[in-house]
Amino acid sequence: MTTKKTRAMAQSAAKAAKASSTVKVALLGFGTVGSSVARVLAASKFPGVQLTHIFNRNVEQKRTSAAAKSVSASVVWTENINDILKSDVDVVVELMGGLNPVEGWLRKALVSGKSVVTANKQLIAYRGASLAKVAAQHGVQLIHGAAVAGGVPVITGMQQGLCGDQVMRLSGIVNGTCNYILSRMEMGADYATVLADAQQLGYAEANPSADVDGYDARAKLCILSRIALHAELDPDAVATQTISTVEAIDFMYAKELNCTIRQVSRAQVDGTLVHARVAPMLVPLTSPLAWSHGTQNMVVASGRFGGDVVFSGHGAGGEPTAVAVVSDLLSVAQGCKTVQLPVRKRSVTGEFMAPHYLRFVVDDKPGIVSAIAGALAKVGANIDSLLQRPGHPKHRLPFVVTTEPCLTSTIEKAMNSIAKLDCMLERPLCLQILVPEDKPE
Ligand SMILES: NC(=O)c1ccc[n+]([C@@H]2O[C@H](COP(=O)([O-])OP(=O)(O)OC[C@H]3O[C@@H](n4cnc5c(N)ncnc54)[C@H](OP(=O)(O)O)[C@@H]3O)[C@@H](O)[C@H]2O)c1
Repeated sequence: MTTKKTRAMAQSAAKAAKASSTVKVALLGFGTVGSSVARVLAASKFPGVQLTHIFNRNVEQKRTSAAAKSVSASVVWTENINDILKSDVDVVVELMGGLNPVEGWLRKALVSGKSVVTANKQLIAYRGASLAKVAAQHGVQLIHGAAVAGGVPVITGMQQGLCGDQVMRLSGIVNGTCNYILSRMEMGADYATVLADAQQLGYAEANPSADVDGYDARAKLCILSRIALHAELDPDAVATQTISTVEAIDFMYAKELNCTIRQVSRAQVDGTLVHARVAPMLVPLTSPLAWSHGTQNMVVASGRFGGDVVFSGHGAGGEPTAVAVVSDLLSVAQGCKTVQLPVRKRSVTGEFMAPHYLRFVVDDKPGIVSAIAGALAKVGANIDSLLQRPGHPKHRLPFVVTTEPCLTSTIEKAMNSIAKLDCMLERPLCLQILVPEDKPE
């Protein structure tokens, strides 16, 4: 009969054998990040980790590409997913992107006892909670450190380094494309020119909507909220505002207000509610968020006990992202466990109490300012300042009003009635002004 002692000895011997054996790895997707992961693994030769399989459609084209030069001849290339799912690989590294067919394949991988490392933000934002459950049920890991901010270890940093705090507020720049566009506009370029440049450089898709309209950033904000705020949000419920209506002149007015403009993703705990929004906002030049340029990402986490912590670095690109993926892979291979704290479903509101920047373009006539002031007064919003740069024709005059702090819904109500004034030549632009906040309660 097996005693408790001999059973424990057998288990620890099995564990030791597993620990000393090589962890076999399959890559799903040999594109920008997948090929960089293969290159980093080949260059660094980490002990105990072996790339054994690569899956991709049109695999022959990938296998014979220049990017495949670093891949060992022993690696099995396949376009049949069952070659991976039915193999003895220990970790599946998913770098294909999208929800389908990836979600189903990864579920099968987890059920068959394979851990999963992924950089797929859409998958983790929409299906992360249920996939994490499957992983836990089968005693394997699901890690996604590269899903937000590419090479910046913001997820690991929050999951491991800040789990001892109560993070109450997040604000960040998590979309490199928007940051590239807005920080170039800050230097005087116009939106259409910079967007075309971003597309040529491969920073922006032919259809840039996911980036410029905020959908990519809100998926990342939801992932960060789960990790840092322990709040499960429905990404589709998070309010977004496009950056495409921001014009060069807004940067000039922002400068007069000692600010610049960035796409900011923010979330803040308020009891059982989370205030969340992705939008272009005026950011004071003294804020770290104003210092990020080009494709750089930055996230500020504000903890109840530890105060503000800033994460910053390359938010995208094959090699920076590959570093995050390989770091996750090594963590799984060495049996490191991530800290897991309970996560609760939370309702989302887009309401924030903030001062606002309102830019109007009008056919100048007497009484316009009093009509705008009247509409603002009607909803209880107070004007803080009025700015008008010289040199514009009266028939197309841009000017700016800033307000004292008021609720998003209040200002939206006023903007809807102001937009109907005859003199308005285009829909007025309304941006929140980010103010430095006190330490969260
Ligand atoms: N690029 C970055 O800087 C970055 C940063 C952070 C996170 N990520 C995430 O990393 C993941 C990969 O991004 P990436 O930039 O490497 O994308 P990518 O260059 O488009 O690579 C994706 C690869 O997967 C293959 N693939 C896609 N769908 C497939 C399918 N149904 N069956 C078989 N193969 C398929 C593609 O094959 P084809 O070449 O034939 O299309 C391609 O080789 C995404 O989730 C992305 O959001 C990327």
